Amino acid sequence: MCGIVAAVTQRNIINCLLQSIKRLEYRGYDSSGLALINKNNNFIRFRSVGKVNELIKKIKNKKLFGTIGLAHTRWATHGKVSEENTHPHISSHIAIVHNGIIENSLQLRSFLEKKGYIFYSETDTEVIVHLLHWEQKKTGKPLLEVISNILIKLHGNYSMVIMDSNNSSKLIAVCSGSPLIIGLGVEENFIASDQIALLNITKRFIYLKEGDIAIIKSEKIKIFDKNNLIIQRKIVKSNIKYECINKGKYKHYMEKEIYEQPISIRNTLKNRLKNNTTIYFPELGLKEKNIFLHLEHIQIVACGTSYHAAMVSKHWFESIANIPCDVEVASEFSYRKLAVRKKSFFITLSQSGETADTLRALRISKKLGYLGNLTICNMQGSSLVQESDTCLLTKAGIEIGVASTKSFTTQLTVLLMLVAKIVGIKKKENNIEKQIVKILTILPYRIEEILKKNKEIKNLAKKIYNKKNMLFLGRGDQYPIAMEGALKLKEISYIHAEAYPSGELKHGPLALIDKNVPIIITAPKNSLLEKTKQNIQEICARGGLIYIFSDEEINLEKNITVLKLPYVEEIIAPIFYIIPLQLLAYYIALIKGTNIDQPRNLAKSVTVE
Ligand code: G6P
Repeated sequence: MCGIVAAVTQRNIINCLLQSIKRLEYRGYDSSGLALINKNNNFIRFRSVGKVNELIKKIKNKKLFGTIGLAHTRWATHGKVSEENTHPHISSHIAIVHNGIIENSLQLRSFLEKKGYIFYSETDTEVIVHLLHWEQKKTGKPLLEVISNILIKLHGNYSMVIMDSNNSSKLIAVCSGSPLIIGLGVEENFIASDQIALLNITKRFIYLKEGDIAIIKSEKIKIFDKNNLIIQRKIVKSNIKYECINKGKYKHYMEKEIYEQPISIRNTLKNRLKNNTTIYFPELGLKEKNIFLHLEHIQIVACGTSYHAAMVSKHWFESIANIPCDVEVASEFSYRKLAVRKKSFFITLSQSGETADTLRALRISKKLGYLGNLTICNMQGSSLVQESDTCLLTKAGIEIGVASTKSFTTQLTVLLMLVAKIVGIKKKENNIEKQIVKILTILPYRIEEILKKNKEIKNLAKKIYNKKNMLFLGRGDQYPIAMEGALKLKEISYIHAEAYPSGELKHGPLALIDKNVPIIITAPKNSLLEKTKQNIQEICARGGLIYIFSDEEINLEKNITVLKLPYVEEIIAPIFYIIPLQLLAYYIALIKGTNIDQPRNLAKSVTVE
């Protein structure tokens, strides 16, 4: 959480910092701030509560100049949303922006208060900056040395950038727990939490590794690794186009990303379906194939939408590949005593590759004797990708809307390919693999078809947007789809929604049924449909307001509305049926006028536990 941008250049950097930090709003948007060093070697700082636009408004008519500066967009952890708690924080000649949490900040704060420091904020970040100041005052050592020395006193995560008004030619970055990327310019250099912030300035990046400390000057960069040794890190050329981060003809990123799903899935499949018969993952070598041949169990760990994708894949791993599969939310997996199954393989799923809970789970898994691990991730170069044995990229393209859409369907696409690949390797016959390849080839067309139902879904949204509660039901692999549909609605429309397996309603939730609680059911034509119909009857008998998405004619009763969907192959039905639920949440939020791309209290990349 929280976005960082910093620059050291030869030109006035103010607009560049503001534009760049705005592009990191997906990491948090409670408040934002900026600090520069002016010609007199003093800090100038502006901070505002709310979105970056508030900061821009505040600075707009001021004639400011600075060639070195820091900017930050905050997702509040320590301390309420307020201007005082907004970064950058300053202690005399040192300014800092920080992403992470210092777990022992209270002890350090009380130590510093005893030394006479006055705190203006409730943040853990202000503790770091005062500690730096105190250590430098006490030891008289150069700032770099002081930084290295205080790190052992900080418990937690602390990716940060530090600026010293006594030395306006350099920035110092520390990478720990959250990503930091150096953007290389011509006689200017930048640092940011994500390359998106800098794509209009440069395409050349260095991903800092855990424990790295970098000194960034306009003309050169020096990086020390966690052992304090100078290290050359690889320069990576980004192939992300700047245009990809625009909304184009769409009103919201989320809308754009929903409609991009056919192309995202095509990109995910590209060069991975060989001769229309086999799945080809160039990322997998002999080692992985050997593991797949011998594995007897799969453990998947993820959060949020990625967790729902994992839940769908459990059905596929067990029903198609006959491999027992367990799925767990990362924050639960990491904090309990685990009994690891025999010959188990560990998989993480993540859009961002930075989710702290998932990253922690991966680190824990490495000590538990799994056969190996793999991450399915959308962000090349992310921490999960770097720390996993193997990675399968989802290739959804940059996703900016906080509510995840195209990442979900591309995760499912990769998962289905992986299931087929493992079946192919294990059974040494490729009939199932062949069948899945055939169905996956059709998938983007199926998604195009269902997107055409947008008008009907918009009409449904008009009927139910003012309800206070909704229930989402599904059976089998549609239950995770109901969960994901409910999550989308909660996230962007703030309507309370719950998901249940259809058969579970009679064990309690039926008590909630009345004409004010719409019940959304996804019921594709499959072996479970007759059972679902029974559940629908039970709801009907109690006067529930039912909306069914199905490719089957379902006998109409007065309080049932069926939205007839096109036919879809049973295996890919989960990927198909989430689309109307994404659209429904989007249109409801649109009518309600909520902030669809940046829902309140949320952030896209959750780098705190
Ligand atoms: C946040 C986002 C969700 C996302 C979850 C997991 O809560 O708001 O949209 O599903 O994190 O993120 P990941 O990047 O690990 O998939």
